[in-house]
Amino acid sequence: MNPPRPGPPPPPPTIRRATVDDAAAFARINGDPAVLRNLMQLPYTSEPIWRARLAEMTVPGRGDLLLVAEQEVGGAQRVVGTAGLHPVSALPRLRHAAMLGISVAVEAQRQGVGGALMQAMCDYADRWMQVQRLQLDVYVDNTPALALYRRFGFEHEATQRAYALRDGAYVDSHTMARMHPQPPSAALQAGDAAPPAGAAAAAHPQASASGNWTLGTADDDDVDGIATLMALPGVVENLLLAPLTPPDAVRKALLEPPRECAIVARSEGRVIGYASLAVQAAVRRRHAATLVACVAPAWQRRGIGGALVTALVDWADRWAGLLRLELGVQDGNAAGLALARRFGFALEGTQRAAVLREGIFVDQHLLARLHPAPPQASARAQA
Ligand SMILES: CC(C)(COP(=O)(O)OP(=O)(O)OC[C@H]1O[C@@H](n2cnc3c(N)ncnc32)[C@H](O)[C@@H]1OP(=O)(O)O)[C@@H](O)C(=O)NCCC(=O)NCCS
Repeated sequence: MNPPRPGPPPPPPTIRRATVDDAAAFARINGDPAVLRNLMQLPYTSEPIWRARLAEMTVPGRGDLLLVAEQEVGGAQRVVGTAGLHPVSALPRLRHAAMLGISVAVEAQRQGVGGALMQAMCDYADRWMQVQRLQLDVYVDNTPALALYRRFGFEHEATQRAYALRDGAYVDSHTMARMHPQPPSAALQAGDAAPPAGAAAAAHPQASASGNWTLGTADDDDVDGIATLMALPGVVENLLLAPLTPPDAVRKALLEPPRECAIVARSEGRVIGYASLAVQAAVRRRHAATLVACVAPAWQRRGIGGALVTALVDWADRWAGLLRLELGVQDGNAAGLALARRFGFALEGTQRAAVLREGIFVDQHLLARLHPAPPQASARAQA
Protein backbone atom coordinates (compact mmCIF):
# COMPACT_ATOMS: atom_id res chain seq x y z
CA MET A 1 0.00 0.00 0.00
CA ASN A 2 1.30 3.44 -0.85
CA PRO A 3 2.26 5.86 1.94
CA PRO A 4 0.32 9.07 2.75
CA ARG A 5 1.15 12.03 0.55
CA PRO A 6 4.12 13.91 2.18
CA GLY A 7 4.99 17.65 2.05
CA PRO A 8 4.53 19.92 -0.99
CA PRO A 9 3.18 18.27 -4.14
CA PRO A 10 5.83 17.16 -6.68
CA PRO A 11 5.69 18.65 -10.22
CA PRO A 12 3.13 16.94 -12.45
CA PRO A 13 4.53 14.02 -14.43
CA THR A 14 4.95 14.12 -18.20
CA ILE A 15 2.59 11.81 -20.05
CA ARG A 16 3.55 10.38 -23.42
CA ARG A 17 2.68 7.43 -25.64
CA ALA A 18 4.62 4.25 -24.85
CA THR A 19 6.98 2.66 -27.37
CA VAL A 20 8.58 -0.79 -27.46
CA ASP A 21 11.68 0.80 -25.96
CA ASP A 22 9.70 1.26 -22.73
CA ALA A 23 9.56 -2.54 -22.33
CA ALA A 24 12.11 -2.53 -19.49
CA ALA A 25 10.10 0.10 -17.59
CA PHE A 26 6.85 -1.84 -18.08
CA ALA A 27 8.57 -5.00 -16.79
CA ARG A 28 10.10 -3.16 -13.81
CA ILE A 29 6.87 -1.43 -12.70
CA ASN A 30 4.36 -4.19 -13.46
CA GLY A 31 6.70 -6.95 -12.25
CA ASP A 32 7.11 -5.46 -8.77
CA PRO A 33 5.33 -7.93 -6.42
CA ALA A 34 3.55 -5.05 -4.65
CA VAL A 35 2.10 -3.86 -7.96
CA LEU A 36 1.51 -7.12 -9.83
CA ARG A 37 -0.68 -8.57 -7.08
CA ASN A 38 -3.23 -5.90 -7.96
CA LEU A 39 -3.13 -6.62 -11.68
CA MET A 40 -3.72 -9.65 -13.93
CA GLN A 41 0.06 -9.97 -14.48
CA LEU A 42 2.09 -13.04 -13.54
CA PRO A 43 5.42 -13.20 -11.67
CA TYR A 44 8.71 -13.62 -13.57
CA THR A 45 7.74 -11.14 -16.24
CA SER A 46 10.55 -9.87 -18.43
CA GLU A 47 11.58 -7.18 -20.83
CA PRO A 48 11.16 -9.48 -23.91
CA ILE A 49 7.61 -10.35 -22.81
CA TRP A 50 6.75 -6.65 -22.61
CA ARG A 51 8.61 -5.90 -25.82
CA ALA A 52 6.41 -8.41 -27.65
CA ARG A 53 3.22 -7.06 -26.03
CA LEU A 54 4.12 -3.47 -26.77
CA ALA A 55 5.06 -4.32 -30.37
CA GLU A 56 1.65 -5.93 -30.83
CA MET A 57 -0.29 -3.10 -29.22
CA THR A 58 1.53 -0.21 -30.86
CA VAL A 59 0.97 -1.34 -34.47
CA PRO A 60 -0.40 1.70 -36.35
CA GLY A 61 -4.15 1.43 -36.81
CA ARG A 62 -4.79 -0.48 -33.58
CA GLY A 63 -7.21 1.24 -31.28
CA ASP A 64 -5.11 0.74 -28.13
CA LEU A 65 -3.51 3.67 -26.34
CA LEU A 66 -0.52 2.85 -24.16
CA LEU A 67 0.86 5.66 -22.04
CA VAL A 68 3.77 6.18 -19.70
CA ALA A 69 4.25 8.81 -17.03
CA GLU A 70 7.72 10.20 -16.54
CA GLN A 71 9.19 12.08 -13.60
CA GLU A 72 12.52 13.83 -13.39
CA VAL A 73 14.80 11.75 -11.19
CA GLY A 74 18.42 12.92 -10.69
CA GLY A 75 18.24 15.18 -13.76
CA ALA A 76 16.93 12.43 -16.07
CA GLN A 77 13.40 11.44 -17.07
CA ARG A 78 12.37 8.10 -15.54
CA VAL A 79 9.21 6.14 -16.32
CA VAL A 80 7.22 5.85 -13.09
CA GLY A 81 3.78 4.86 -14.36
CA THR A 82 2.16 2.89 -17.18
CA ALA A 83 -1.41 2.79 -18.41
CA GLY A 84 -3.42 1.24 -21.22
CA LEU A 85 -6.75 2.05 -22.83
CA HIS A 86 -8.11 -0.74 -25.01
CA PRO A 87 -11.24 -1.23 -27.15
CA VAL A 88 -13.46 -3.83 -25.49
CA SER A 89 -14.19 -5.40 -28.87
CA ALA A 90 -14.16 -4.70 -32.58
CA LEU A 91 -17.78 -5.83 -32.80
CA PRO A 92 -20.03 -2.95 -33.94
CA ARG A 93 -22.41 -3.41 -31.02
CA LEU A 94 -19.60 -3.06 -28.46
CA ARG A 95 -17.58 -0.39 -30.22
CA HIS A 96 -18.68 2.34 -27.82
CA ALA A 97 -16.84 0.72 -24.89
CA ALA A 98 -13.19 0.71 -23.86
CA MET A 99 -11.38 -0.71 -20.85
CA LEU A 100 -8.39 0.59 -18.98
CA GLY A 101 -5.58 -0.48 -16.71
CA ILE A 102 -3.01 1.51 -14.76
CA SER A 103 0.03 1.01 -12.54
CA VAL A 104 2.42 3.34 -10.77
CA ALA A 105 5.87 2.41 -9.43
CA VAL A 106 5.72 1.95 -5.66
CA GLU A 107 8.20 4.77 -4.97
CA ALA A 108 6.12 7.22 -7.08
CA GLN A 109 2.70 6.42 -5.66
CA ARG A 110 0.59 9.08 -3.95
CA GLN A 111 2.29 11.85 -5.94
CA GLY A 112 -0.37 12.47 -8.54
CA VAL A 113 1.00 10.10 -11.18
CA GLY A 114 -2.06 7.82 -11.24
CA GLY A 115 -4.34 10.84 -11.40
CA ALA A 116 -2.41 12.31 -14.33
CA LEU A 117 -2.58 9.01 -16.25
CA MET A 118 -6.32 8.65 -15.53
CA GLN A 119 -6.95 12.23 -16.68
CA ALA A 120 -5.05 11.60 -19.91
CA MET A 121 -6.98 8.37 -20.62
CA CYS A 122 -10.40 9.89 -19.82
CA ASP A 123 -9.64 12.91 -22.03
CA TYR A 124 -8.47 10.70 -24.88
CA ALA A 125 -11.53 8.46 -24.62
CA ASP A 126 -13.96 11.39 -24.32
CA ARG A 127 -12.44 13.69 -26.87
CA TRP A 128 -10.79 11.54 -29.51
CA MET A 129 -11.62 7.86 -29.30
CA GLN A 130 -15.40 7.89 -29.87
CA VAL A 131 -16.08 5.94 -26.71
CA GLN A 132 -19.12 6.40 -24.47
CA ARG A 133 -18.36 3.80 -21.82
CA LEU A 134 -15.10 3.26 -19.94
CA GLN A 135 -14.87 0.14 -17.82
CA LEU A 136 -12.37 -1.64 -15.58
CA ASP A 137 -11.93 -4.42 -13.08
CA VAL A 138 -10.43 -3.81 -9.65
CA TYR A 139 -9.87 -6.26 -6.79
CA VAL A 140 -12.21 -5.52 -3.91
CA ASP A 141 -9.36 -4.83 -1.45
CA ASN A 142 -7.46 -2.40 -3.70
CA THR A 143 -8.40 0.70 -1.70
CA PRO A 144 -6.07 3.19 -3.47
CA ALA A 145 -7.29 2.18 -6.92
CA LEU A 146 -10.95 2.21 -5.86
CA ALA A 147 -10.51 5.75 -4.51
CA LEU A 148 -8.75 6.87 -7.68
CA TYR A 149 -11.46 5.45 -9.92
CA ARG A 150 -14.29 6.96 -7.87
CA ARG A 151 -12.56 10.32 -8.15
CA PHE A 152 -12.81 10.00 -11.92
CA GLY A 153 -16.51 9.18 -11.87
CA PHE A 154 -16.35 5.39 -12.11
CA GLU A 155 -19.28 3.64 -10.47
CA HIS A 156 -19.61 0.12 -9.11
CA GLU A 157 -21.57 -2.21 -11.39
CA ALA A 158 -20.87 -5.73 -10.19
CA THR A 159 -18.78 -7.81 -7.85
CA GLN A 160 -17.45 -10.97 -9.41
CA ARG A 161 -16.63 -13.68 -6.88
CA ALA A 162 -13.37 -15.66 -7.13
CA TYR A 163 -12.55 -13.57 -10.18
CA ALA A 164 -8.82 -14.33 -10.31
CA LEU A 165 -6.18 -16.33 -8.48
CA ARG A 166 -3.79 -14.15 -6.50
CA ASP A 167 -0.82 -15.65 -4.74
CA GLY A 168 -2.63 -18.89 -3.86
CA ALA A 169 -6.07 -17.45 -3.07
CA TYR A 170 -9.03 -16.47 -5.19
CA VAL A 171 -9.91 -12.80 -5.00
CA ASP A 172 -13.20 -11.04 -5.76
CA SER A 173 -13.26 -8.18 -8.21
CA HIS A 174 -15.46 -5.14 -8.74
CA THR A 175 -16.44 -4.10 -12.22
CA MET A 176 -16.68 -0.32 -12.49
CA ALA A 177 -17.68 1.94 -15.35
CA ARG A 178 -17.94 5.61 -16.22
CA MET A 179 -20.23 6.96 -18.93
CA HIS A 180 -19.09 9.88 -21.07
CA PRO A 181 -20.21 12.96 -19.10
CA GLN A 182 -21.03 14.89 -22.28
CA PRO A 183 -21.10 12.74 -25.39
CA PRO A 184 -20.52 14.81 -28.54
CA SER A 185 -23.50 15.30 -30.81
CA ALA A 186 -23.98 16.58 -34.32
CA ALA A 187 -26.49 19.25 -35.32
CA LEU A 188 -29.19 17.86 -37.57
CA GLN A 189 -30.36 19.72 -40.66
CA ALA A 190 -33.88 19.81 -42.03
CA GLY A 191 -32.98 17.14 -44.60
CA ASP A 192 -31.82 14.62 -41.98
CA ALA A 193 -34.84 12.40 -41.60
CA ALA A 194 -35.82 9.01 -40.29
CA PRO A 195 -36.39 6.23 -42.86
CA PRO A 196 -39.74 6.31 -44.65
CA ALA A 197 -42.73 5.04 -42.67
CA GLY A 198 -43.01 1.27 -42.63
CA ALA A 199 -39.32 0.82 -43.29
CA ALA A 200 -38.30 0.07 -39.69
CA ALA A 201 -37.09 -3.22 -38.24
CA ALA A 202 -35.71 -4.44 -41.51
CA ALA A 203 -32.35 -5.80 -40.39
CA HIS A 204 -33.80 -9.26 -40.58
CA PRO A 205 -33.87 -10.26 -44.22
CA GLN A 206 -37.24 -10.75 -45.78
CA ALA A 207 -39.08 -11.77 -48.91
CA SER A 208 -40.71 -9.29 -51.28
CA ALA A 209 -44.48 -8.97 -51.24
CA SER A 210 -44.59 -10.59 -54.68
CA GLY A 211 -42.40 -13.39 -53.38
CA ASN A 212 -40.09 -13.45 -56.39
CA TRP A 213 -37.04 -12.04 -54.63
CA THR A 214 -35.57 -12.22 -51.14
CA LEU A 215 -33.04 -10.29 -49.15
CA GLY A 216 -30.25 -12.04 -47.26
CA THR A 217 -26.77 -11.54 -45.87
CA ALA A 218 -24.18 -11.59 -48.64
CA ASP A 219 -22.04 -14.70 -48.26
CA ASP A 220 -18.89 -16.03 -49.92
CA ASP A 221 -20.90 -17.80 -52.63
CA ASP A 222 -22.44 -14.51 -53.70
CA VAL A 223 -19.16 -12.86 -54.71
CA ASP A 224 -19.27 -13.96 -58.35
CA GLY A 225 -22.94 -12.98 -58.54
CA ILE A 226 -22.15 -9.56 -57.09
CA ALA A 227 -19.26 -9.16 -59.53
CA THR A 228 -21.56 -10.01 -62.44
CA LEU A 229 -24.20 -7.58 -61.17
CA MET A 230 -21.67 -4.80 -60.78
CA ALA A 231 -20.41 -5.30 -64.34
CA LEU A 232 -23.88 -4.98 -65.93
CA PRO A 233 -24.45 -2.03 -68.25
CA GLY A 234 -26.62 0.41 -66.33
CA VAL A 235 -24.86 -0.49 -63.09
CA VAL A 236 -21.12 -0.36 -63.75
CA GLU A 237 -21.21 3.25 -65.00
CA ASN A 238 -22.63 4.43 -61.69
CA LEU A 239 -20.07 2.61 -59.54
CA LEU A 240 -16.34 3.16 -59.40
CA LEU A 241 -15.29 -0.11 -61.04
CA ALA A 242 -14.45 -0.17 -64.75
CA PRO A 243 -16.07 -2.66 -67.16
CA LEU A 244 -14.04 -5.84 -67.83
CA THR A 245 -12.78 -5.92 -64.25
CA PRO A 246 -12.09 -9.62 -63.59
CA PRO A 247 -13.92 -11.28 -60.66
CA ASP A 248 -10.72 -11.51 -58.59
CA ALA A 249 -10.24 -7.74 -58.72
CA VAL A 250 -13.93 -7.23 -57.94
CA ARG A 251 -13.56 -9.61 -55.00
CA LYS A 252 -10.66 -7.49 -53.73
CA ALA A 253 -12.66 -4.31 -54.22
CA LEU A 254 -15.53 -5.86 -52.27
CA LEU A 255 -13.31 -6.71 -49.33
CA GLU A 256 -11.17 -3.57 -49.17
CA PRO A 257 -12.19 -1.59 -47.20
CA PRO A 258 -13.89 -4.37 -45.25
CA ARG A 259 -17.69 -4.29 -45.27
CA GLU A 260 -19.27 -4.72 -41.88
CA CYS A 261 -22.73 -5.12 -43.30
CA ALA A 262 -23.44 -6.56 -46.75
CA ILE A 263 -26.79 -7.67 -48.10
CA VAL A 264 -27.97 -9.16 -51.40
CA ALA A 265 -31.31 -9.48 -53.12
CA ARG A 266 -31.66 -12.85 -54.82
CA SER A 267 -34.14 -14.24 -57.30
CA GLU A 268 -34.05 -17.91 -58.23
CA GLY A 269 -30.54 -18.13 -56.85
CA ARG A 270 -29.23 -15.17 -58.84
CA VAL A 271 -27.93 -11.98 -57.23
CA ILE A 272 -30.10 -9.12 -58.49
CA GLY A 273 -29.20 -6.48 -55.90
CA TYR A 274 -26.38 -5.66 -53.50
CA ALA A 275 -25.79 -3.08 -50.80
CA SER A 276 -23.09 -2.65 -48.18
CA LEU A 277 -21.69 -0.40 -45.49
CA ALA A 278 -17.96 0.03 -44.92
CA VAL A 279 -17.27 1.62 -41.55
CA GLN A 280 -14.40 4.11 -41.64
CA ALA A 281 -11.24 2.66 -40.10
CA ALA A 282 -9.75 5.82 -38.58
CA VAL A 283 -10.67 6.09 -34.89
CA ARG A 284 -11.83 9.69 -35.29
CA ARG A 285 -14.12 8.72 -38.19
CA ARG A 286 -15.48 5.52 -36.71
CA HIS A 287 -18.95 7.03 -36.45
CA ALA A 288 -19.19 7.12 -40.25
CA ALA A 289 -19.75 4.48 -42.92
CA THR A 290 -19.84 4.55 -46.71
CA LEU A 291 -22.88 3.12 -48.41
CA VAL A 292 -22.95 1.40 -51.80
CA ALA A 293 -26.11 -0.01 -53.38
CA CYS A 294 -27.02 -1.36 -56.80
CA VAL A 295 -29.88 -3.25 -58.43
CA ALA A 296 -29.82 -5.08 -61.79
CA PRO A 297 -31.48 -2.86 -64.43
CA ALA A 298 -34.13 -5.51 -65.19
CA TRP A 299 -35.16 -5.43 -61.52
CA GLN A 300 -35.18 -1.70 -60.93
CA ARG A 301 -38.33 0.22 -59.87
CA ARG A 302 -39.69 -2.72 -57.84
CA GLY A 303 -38.71 -1.56 -54.37
CA ILE A 304 -35.53 -3.64 -54.14
CA GLY A 305 -33.21 -0.63 -53.75
CA GLY A 306 -35.50 0.76 -51.03
CA ALA A 307 -35.54 -2.59 -49.21
CA LEU A 308 -31.74 -2.86 -49.37
CA VAL A 309 -31.17 0.68 -48.06
CA THR A 310 -33.84 0.22 -45.38
CA ALA A 311 -31.93 -2.79 -44.07
CA LEU A 312 -28.63 -0.91 -44.07
CA VAL A 313 -30.05 2.18 -42.35
CA ASP A 314 -31.70 -0.01 -39.72
CA TRP A 315 -28.42 -1.81 -39.12
CA ALA A 316 -26.52 1.47 -38.88
CA ASP A 317 -29.05 3.14 -36.57
CA ARG A 318 -29.95 0.27 -34.28
CA TRP A 319 -27.03 -2.16 -34.27
CA ALA A 320 -23.84 -0.36 -35.15
CA GLY A 321 -24.12 2.99 -33.38
CA LEU A 322 -23.22 4.91 -36.52
CA LEU A 323 -23.89 8.63 -36.58
CA ARG A 324 -23.18 9.36 -40.21
CA LEU A 325 -23.83 7.45 -43.45
CA GLU A 326 -22.22 8.83 -46.56
CA LEU A 327 -22.29 8.07 -50.24
CA GLY A 328 -21.24 9.47 -53.60
CA VAL A 329 -23.68 9.71 -56.50
CA GLN A 330 -22.38 10.51 -59.94
CA ASP A 331 -24.03 13.37 -61.77
CA GLY A 332 -26.83 12.08 -63.96
CA ASN A 333 -27.72 9.13 -61.72
CA ALA A 334 -31.24 10.36 -60.99
CA ALA A 335 -32.38 7.05 -59.49
CA GLY A 336 -29.45 6.93 -57.06
CA LEU A 337 -30.03 10.53 -56.01
CA ALA A 338 -33.77 9.97 -55.50
CA LEU A 339 -33.22 6.83 -53.42
CA ALA A 340 -30.69 8.58 -51.20
CA ARG A 341 -32.97 11.57 -50.69
CA ARG A 342 -35.88 9.29 -49.75
CA PHE A 343 -33.79 8.06 -46.83
CA GLY A 344 -32.94 11.53 -45.59
CA PHE A 345 -29.53 11.89 -47.23
CA ALA A 346 -28.75 15.56 -47.73
CA LEU A 347 -26.51 17.00 -50.44
CA GLU A 348 -23.25 18.25 -48.91
CA GLY A 349 -21.45 19.30 -52.05
CA THR A 350 -20.31 18.34 -55.51
CA GLN A 351 -16.83 17.27 -56.55
CA ARG A 352 -16.10 18.53 -60.02
CA ALA A 353 -14.78 16.09 -62.65
CA ALA A 354 -14.39 13.50 -59.92
CA VAL A 355 -14.94 10.26 -61.85
CA LEU A 356 -14.04 9.15 -65.36
CA ARG A 357 -17.07 7.63 -67.03
CA GLU A 358 -17.08 6.51 -70.65
CA GLY A 359 -14.38 8.99 -71.65
CA ILE A 360 -15.84 11.96 -69.79
CA PHE A 361 -15.04 13.28 -66.34
CA VAL A 362 -18.30 13.60 -64.43
CA ASP A 363 -19.10 15.38 -61.19
CA GLN A 364 -19.86 13.42 -58.05
CA HIS A 365 -22.43 14.58 -55.51
CA LEU A 366 -21.60 13.90 -51.88
CA LEU A 367 -24.57 13.07 -49.68
CA ALA A 368 -24.81 12.14 -46.04
CA ARG A 369 -27.44 11.27 -43.50
CA LEU A 370 -27.04 11.81 -39.76
CA HIS A 371 -28.75 9.50 -37.29
CA PRO A 372 -31.93 11.34 -36.24
CA ALA A 373 -31.73 10.11 -32.61
CA PRO A 374 -28.35 8.48 -31.84
CA PRO A 375 -28.27 6.22 -28.77
CA GLN A 376 -26.45 7.76 -25.81
CA ALA A 377 -25.02 5.74 -22.98
CA SER A 378 -25.04 8.62 -20.49
CA ALA A 379 -28.70 9.45 -21.16
CA ARG A 380 -29.69 5.85 -20.51
CA ALA A 381 -27.57 5.63 -17.37
CA GLN A 382 -29.21 8.78 -15.98
CA ALA A 383 -32.67 7.49 -16.85
C1 LIG B 1 -3.89 2.78 -7.89
C2 LIG B 1 -2.65 3.55 -8.29
C3 LIG B 1 -2.52 3.49 -9.81
C4 LIG B 1 -2.79 5.03 -7.83
O1 LIG B 1 -1.70 5.75 -8.38
P1 LIG B 1 -1.09 7.02 -7.60
O2 LIG B 1 -0.08 7.62 -8.50
O3 LIG B 1 -0.64 6.60 -6.28
O4 LIG B 1 -2.36 7.94 -7.48
P2 LIG B 1 -2.36 9.54 -7.23
O5 LIG B 1 -1.22 9.94 -6.40
O6 LIG B 1 -2.51 10.21 -8.54
O7 LIG B 1 -3.69 9.70 -6.42
C5 LIG B 1 -4.90 9.98 -7.04
C6 LIG B 1 -6.03 9.66 -6.10
O8 LIG B 1 -6.10 8.24 -5.91
C7 LIG B 1 -6.53 7.96 -4.57
N1 LIG B 1 -5.48 7.26 -3.83
C8 LIG B 1 -4.24 6.97 -4.24
N2 LIG B 1 -3.60 6.26 -3.31
C9 LIG B 1 -4.42 6.13 -2.26
C10 LIG B 1 -4.33 5.50 -1.00
N3 LIG B 1 -3.23 4.87 -0.61
N4 LIG B 1 -5.41 5.53 -0.19
C11 LIG B 1 -6.52 6.16 -0.58
N5 LIG B 1 -6.65 6.81 -1.77
C12 LIG B 1 -5.61 6.77 -2.59
C13 LIG B 1 -6.85 9.33 -3.98
O9 LIG B 1 -8.17 9.66 -4.32
C14 LIG B 1 -5.90 10.21 -4.73
O10 LIG B 1 -6.27 11.56 -4.74
P3 LIG B 1 -5.79 12.50 -3.52
O11 LIG B 1 -4.32 12.28 -3.37
O12 LIG B 1 -6.12 13.88 -3.99
O13 LIG B 1 -6.53 12.06 -2.32
C15 LIG B 1 -1.37 2.99 -7.60
O14 LIG B 1 -1.63 2.83 -6.23
C16 LIG B 1 -0.89 1.67 -8.16
O15 LIG B 1 -0.22 1.63 -9.17
N6 LIG B 1 -1.20 0.54 -7.47
C17 LIG B 1 -0.73 -0.75 -7.89
C18 LIG B 1 -1.35 -1.20 -9.23
C19 LIG B 1 -2.83 -1.12 -9.19
O16 LIG B 1 -3.47 -1.37 -8.18
N7 LIG B 1 -3.43 -0.78 -10.37
C20 LIG B 1 -4.84 -0.72 -10.50
C21 LIG B 1 -5.37 -2.09 -10.75
S1 LIG B 1 -7.12 -2.13 -10.90
